[in-house]
Amino acid sequence: MGYCSWFLLSCFLWSFLNPGTHQLQSSQTQVLLQLRKHLEYPNQLEFWNNHGMDLCYLSPSTQVNMTCQDNAVTELRMVGDKPAKVISFVGFAITSQTLSGNFSMDSFVTTLARLTSLRVLSLVSLGIWGPLPDKIHRLSTLEYLDLSSNYLFGSIPPKISTMVKLQTLNLDDNFFNDTIPDWFDSLSNLTILSLRNNQLKGPFPSSIQRVASLTDLILSGNDISGKLPNLDRLSKLSMLDLSENSLDSDLPSMPKGLVMAFLSNNSLSGQIPRQYSQLRQLQHFDMSFNELSGKIPASLLSLPSITYLNLASNMLSGSLPDHLTCGSKLQFVDVSNNRLTGGLPYCFTKSGNRVVKFGGNCLSVDLHHQHAESSCMDVPVKRKHSGGRNTGILAGVLAGISVIIVLLSFGLVMVHKRYCSRGTPEQHLLPKAEQDKSVSGFSEEILSSARFVSEAAKLDIKGLPACRSFTLEELKEATDSFNNSTILGDGSYGKLYKGILENGTRVAIRCVPSSKKYSMRNLKLRMDLLAKLRHPHLVCLLGHCIDGGGQDDYRVKNVFLVYEYVSNGNFRAHLSGNFWINF
Ligand SMILES: *[C@@H]1O[C@H](CO)[C@@H](O)[C@H](O)[C@H]1NC(C)=O
Ligand SMILES: *[C@@H]1O[C@H](CO)[C@@H](O)[C@H](O)[C@H]1NC(C)=O
Ligand SMILES: *[C@@H]1O[C@H](CO)[C@@H](O)[C@H](O)[C@H]1NC(C)=O
Ligand SMILES: *[C@@H]1O[C@H](CO)[C@@H](O)[C@H](O)[C@H]1NC(C)=O
Ligand SMILES: *[C@@H]1O[C@H](CO)[C@@H](O)[C@H](O)[C@H]1NC(C)=O
Repeated sequence: MGYCSWFLLSCFLWSFLNPGTHQLQSSQTQVLLQLRKHLEYPNQLEFWNNHGMDLCYLSPSTQVNMTCQDNAVTELRMVGDKPAKVISFVGFAITSQTLSGNFSMDSFVTTLARLTSLRVLSLVSLGIWGPLPDKIHRLSTLEYLDLSSNYLFGSIPPKISTMVKLQTLNLDDNFFNDTIPDWFDSLSNLTILSLRNNQLKGPFPSSIQRVASLTDLILSGNDISGKLPNLDRLSKLSMLDLSENSLDSDLPSMPKGLVMAFLSNNSLSGQIPRQYSQLRQLQHFDMSFNELSGKIPASLLSLPSITYLNLASNMLSGSLPDHLTCGSKLQFVDVSNNRLTGGLPYCFTKSGNRVVKFGGNCLSVDLHHQHAESSCMDVPVKRKHSGGRNTGILAGVLAGISVIIVLLSFGLVMVHKRYCSRGTPEQHLLPKAEQDKSVSGFSEEILSSARFVSEAAKLDIKGLPACRSFTLEELKEATDSFNNSTILGDGSYGKLYKGILENGTRVAIRCVPSSKKYSMRNLKLRMDLLAKLRHPHLVCLLGHCIDGGGQDDYRVKNVFLVYEYVSNGNFRAHLSGNFWINF
């Protein structure tokens, strides 16, 4: 036999004795089968079985993909059919939503960590539940980690900060409920950070400004509060979503390359920075439902790339110049429910396909329910001393309103019949849903349910006095410092006091203690709506007082509702009855 044959034979023996280069190591196969067991044998893994089949060669599907290299799994992606869609999750298994009570997140991650070459791990909607254990960092080769839409809660493990290869971290739609961590600058290659729709609290993590590689930062739908740092050092950032949090700073400066920015539904205040006129890439900008004031910089509307600009429901004032230029790509502008005065810019009216919304201002146009100019002048410059939000109160007010309406329609509330101070006698009932629902900053929901509000009150065109805001001192004065002798009633929904205002008006004051947080502005809007509920069968809300409990405390401590006092026994019973505004 020649050398050549010897060579071929040894080649043959070598390949026989060693696993093929593509053959998955059997230890990795064992890990995968264990994972399948942990996940309680989901349908999409039926094809994984123990019969010597190479799992790396299964064809990719919409539900499971796997990639292997050098006999080891490097990418594992799975999508299940158990999206995290419950409203509240208290950390226990839920039948047919989560994996069973036998599932252990800790041993699941221990098993996962044996896939030591893993670079991509995506486990979405699999019903995985529990706190995410710190040992997740053993997957130190991971570049991409997506555990979105599961039932993970507790804190985001600090050891994730040692997974320095991470480029994408996505924990969206879980129940993480601790403070948001502040170690993101350890992840120097991080490009996408997405923690949307969790219950993360605490201040905006300032370490984020130092993660220069970030392109997408998505923290919306949490309870992040406090100040925003300047973000202009994030030179690669193109997508910023911080909407639906409790941020209450001024607007920060933004990176020049920003393309999309969502900042709506916070308590951001102050003026729109001039720096935004340099955002030449900016296409989509939503700052609606905040507390922004000052003028709208004309340069914002003429940005070269802007297509969508939403500034609705703020406190922006001043007028827009007639000859303002709108950016050529601008397709949608919403400036409704602000305090704008003057005329409409030419490029708003001559708009072609452009959608422009401007209702609920004080513009000198006959359209879209403009208010009297005076109501845009008395800008309450009183800075908020507490930017808390209280979902409980909002829910309570909404519930209260619907309860009132139900009661009214059944004619059950027979309170002393009288009109309120300057209430109009217009009593015809509105056909539902024919008004411009965005009028006066109330959500569609409220307006469509508030069918008994007179049209005048609804549109606020008769200049009814807005719900007045009382100071705590005024109320103390009226009630002799909430003296026990002034208590009319005391229920599980707070104490009810009677009192006399400085001008002699007799009032009933309900003190509603509050522990949760809600945006001051939303609270006030709801108060205003309550004040506008004018009906002969209904006692009037004259105003409110929000006791913020001091400068440093971002919570609302107590809310006082001030009603006109009707000296009728029934009134007291009704007002202290549980069906009245249920907070
Ligand atoms: C698997 O890959 C295919 C195409 O490569 C993709 O369409 C599919 O969404 C992937 N599935 C998962 C679960 O990622
Ligand atoms: C997070 O949620 C879990 C489960 O509901 C609860 O036990 C835990 O106390 C919460 N932690 C925090 C910090 O709120
Ligand atoms: C949980 O574990 C117990 C004991 O190991 C077993 O009897 C039970 O069937 C398991 N339940 C589920 C849903 O897997
Ligand atoms: C970050 O990415 C760069 C370029 O892709 C790479 O060279 C570097 O090794 C990465 N850093 C870490 C810590 O993985
Ligand atoms: C912001 O809040 C308003 C009213 O509460 C709501 O209609 C809107 O959908 C919210 N926007 C976002 C982005 O959540």
